[in-house]
Amino acid sequence: MSLDVANTSAAAHGLDVAGLRADFPLLQRPMNGRRLAFLDSAASAQKPQCVIDAERECYETYYANIHRGVYALSQQSTQRYEAVRKIVKRFINAPDEREVVFVRGATEAINLVAQSFVRPKLSAGDEILITGMEHHANIVPWQLVAEATGAKLVVAPVLDNGELDMATLAEQISERTRFVSVVHVSNTLGTINPVSEIIALAHAKGIPVLVDGAQSAPHMPVDVQALGADFYCFSAHKTYGPSGAGVLWGRLEHLQAMPPYQGGGDMIRNVTFAQSDYADPPQRFEAGTPNIAGVIAMGTGLEYIESVGREPIVAHEQHLLAYANAQLEAIEGFRVIGTAPHKTGVISFVLEGIHPHDIGTILDMEGVAVRSGHHCTQPLMERFAVPATTRASFGLYNDEADVDALVSGLHRVKAMLSQ
Ligand code: ALA
Repeated sequence: MSLDVANTSAAAHGLDVAGLRADFPLLQRPMNGRRLAFLDSAASAQKPQCVIDAERECYETYYANIHRGVYALSQQSTQRYEAVRKIVKRFINAPDEREVVFVRGATEAINLVAQSFVRPKLSAGDEILITGMEHHANIVPWQLVAEATGAKLVVAPVLDNGELDMATLAEQISERTRFVSVVHVSNTLGTINPVSEIIALAHAKGIPVLVDGAQSAPHMPVDVQALGADFYCFSAHKTYGPSGAGVLWGRLEHLQAMPPYQGGGDMIRNVTFAQSDYADPPQRFEAGTPNIAGVIAMGTGLEYIESVGREPIVAHEQHLLAYANAQLEAIEGFRVIGTAPHKTGVISFVLEGIHPHDIGTILDMEGVAVRSGHHCTQPLMERFAVPATTRASFGLYNDEADVDALVSGLHRVKAMLSQ
């Protein structure tokens, strides 16, 4: 099928997509006898060989516990682990590498901020503002602190096209609002939220803001200083790195004022049975032996994204989005949930009369991997009055052939299941 959008090929954006795809060993394996079309990077991205090698190299050649040994291996591990703070600092344009806290992922980062920064400030009747398109990871931690303190959650509504209702959100920032936590890019809709605007509205009333960057860090340039955020977090497994590692970035003055979230080794200065003194940030928030090799390989994943280039990644994924939309919209009964003008390469959809799980199962038989379900955004499903959607999401390694496989797979779904 020849489409105009196809003419603005990835090569025009300077990306050698075939070469990028070749960097990912898993993408070389066939799936059910077909070329694998992996369209679930919003759930977790595949890993390039350099990330796999970085983790293996750590375990094979210099692994030891960090911050603890005077011997060479421990020092080398420590140096490689700490070097990742510089990489993250550059990746999100943080002012200071002491503001980079290593965590298990975005979920842990949000829980840390909720319990350590926000909870001590809350009294009964106070409000925490989130939005109607949050992932459960940016809902439940706030419910936990609200239950414990008598505070309440206020939820900014989502418009029919998947954008935030900014007029209502602006009114919802009240005298009682103590914190705002908002997703940068919706994992279900792909909507890119105007987070700078939200931060400006909140800051005008002295309210700090956390930006959940799990779906923005892999797909667009991120500059926490330009955003003006107080906290920003992301997960390594979505930025082409390993699972079980991630980043909380927070302004130093906030981190310095925050009590520890967990107690244990490596987060203290001095311990007696009477009392303990805590280390400065970021160590204060990294109790216990961390995911050493995972953090190191996370750094390699971020360098990989930088080597490809964020602007070319945006251009390529936008191209795929347009290429896919043009074909998918022609399928009878196909409806996209989330049509915001500013969105990333995420297409959540329903096919009239066919359950998303059946779509996912048949697509899998065709070698196409998509996610079916509520995408950890059950309130958003309720908002759009659907129990679930099928979601195709792009990564830098996807190409037009993946989209073509999705489209022909959906035609097969319809041929098999349409009445
Ligand atoms: N949050 C991930 C997703 O959107 C798991 O699929």
